[in-house]
Amino acid sequence: MVLQYDVVIVGAGGAGCRAALEIPEGVRCAVITKLFPTRSHTAAAQGGVCAALGNEEEDSWEWHMFDTVKGSDYLGDQDAIEILTHDAPQTIYELEHIGMPFSRNADGRIAQRRFGGHTRNFGEAAVQRACFAADRTGHIMLHTLYENCVKKGVEFFSEFFLLDVLIEDNICRGVVAMDIRTSEIHTFYAKAVMFATGGACKVFRISSNAHGLVGDGIALAYNRGVPIEDHEFVQFHPTGLFKLGILVSEAARGEGGILRNKNGERFMERYAPTIKDLAPRDVVSRCIYTEFREGRGIVGDDGTQYVHLDLTHLGKEVIDKKLPDVTGFARTYLGVEPIKEPIPIQPTAHYIMGGIPTDLNGQVRANQKDKLVTGFYAAGECACVSVHGANRLGTNSLLDIIVYGRRAGKAMTEFIRENDFAPLPRDADKPVREKIEWISKSNGKESVADLRQKLQDEMMDKCSVFREVKGLAAVRETVRELKARYQNIHIDDRTRTFNTDLLDAIELGYLLDNAEVIVEGALARKESRGAHYRDDYSKRDDKNWLKHTFAYKTEKGVKLEYKPVTITKFQPKERKY
Ligand code: FUM
Repeated sequence: MVLQYDVVIVGAGGAGCRAALEIPEGVRCAVITKLFPTRSHTAAAQGGVCAALGNEEEDSWEWHMFDTVKGSDYLGDQDAIEILTHDAPQTIYELEHIGMPFSRNADGRIAQRRFGGHTRNFGEAAVQRACFAADRTGHIMLHTLYENCVKKGVEFFSEFFLLDVLIEDNICRGVVAMDIRTSEIHTFYAKAVMFATGGACKVFRISSNAHGLVGDGIALAYNRGVPIEDHEFVQFHPTGLFKLGILVSEAARGEGGILRNKNGERFMERYAPTIKDLAPRDVVSRCIYTEFREGRGIVGDDGTQYVHLDLTHLGKEVIDKKLPDVTGFARTYLGVEPIKEPIPIQPTAHYIMGGIPTDLNGQVRANQKDKLVTGFYAAGECACVSVHGANRLGTNSLLDIIVYGRRAGKAMTEFIRENDFAPLPRDADKPVREKIEWISKSNGKESVADLRQKLQDEMMDKCSVFREVKGLAAVRETVRELKARYQNIHIDDRTRTFNTDLLDAIELGYLLDNAEVIVEGALARKESRGAHYRDDYSKRDDKNWLKHTFAYKTEKGVKLEYKPVTITKFQPKERKY
């Protein structure tokens, strides 16, 4: 079936819903999601969304800009970061005005708390910049945005699974998706398409991401000739629940929580004397791994290591009021009572800084120069406007989705006013139908679950917090081998109703494409910057590597090109905390 809309947005998380709110009434706008909208991963963001409101203490957007540039290890594009931080307060007030119930301070203003890497006066000391709704900020934000979309009459297609993006002659003409309930294939013919499909951290074994965060939009764009930017930069959040990876918000440290090693030592004092436990995530994750390497981790029942996140000194009232969800997770999943005992934690794959490259209005870049894809937009974690560079600061992701979701929505509104529908390609859904037919009928011997497990294990062991050439070369071989074995998979469920076996098989293909791009970028980048740390090239190398990676899919494999970083206000300096 062909459905025609002026605008089709794929992904109903914060970026997708925020963009949809910008589309004027009377314009046909569809939002497609493989979940129910309020189950999108934005709901898992816990600790806050930052903006220099100055509600608790003096703050300024220039300080926020500086922190974001420095946090990015100078790889973030400063024009994009300026927009992000300058527009942040207005964007927060807009959310407040459409009904978002933020936590409040004693004056009744939006409450703010500390988060890693956010400082006053260009690095002097930690500042309270993160606006929050207890430790459910993303959940509350998503519900607010979704309710406003419903009020406005945005059409949602829930449980529709993205299968292709129709790009011909550098013009995007729609997407192909499957109704998960019936396995029916639909073509969404559109003037403008926006991807807000989220990240790809399910490439790793230990991850805070939900099952569906497989980089689907990223992989599909890549397969249609769009380059992928800076994908080697993957953020490991320091505090995931041991063995499970479930996020324990940085807000826990923002409220005063302390990391301790097996000797009970507050080890961050040694590594980051100024902001200690609130150093940026790349720094803290490396410090935790260093504690493991040097024998100061605590050995778990499976032989792997963890450290403790100690909240016991915060008291029941603070914990219950400000950190109810994350402490609940520790009770439920680890049987630990955070009021009395420290929580076992380990770094968890949390966020991918790279993705589909866009300009400042969310329009997708066709190459590392100035060429754009007509009618194609992206925002949120699947996109890379490059506000996060080599390492994202906590609470800048919720900000990114609302600032750049809004900008993409505005840009699409203008685009559809001025442009007509480009012709729909003949047999637009043919490649998708052939692929589904192949997977459904294949009798190969390979199990999808086994291949996914092997991929996640290898990526975790050889391409995570610390990397070096031998491990990366080995994981490159593994990805190649798994791609070959993928051609020989089988699925057990051959029915058409909610066939998650089929979806898992397709998603494994997306994971493999994302892994390929991450590994190739990581192997090529012979330096350490932000979340990309190479044991064999342990220094940042601005002379050779102050540049963005653009990875293209070619017949011979991944081809890498590079693009200069936009530097406006802050020249690269050594990063000290
Ligand atoms: O730690 C957290 O609450 C996560 C926030 C973020 O990733 O921005």
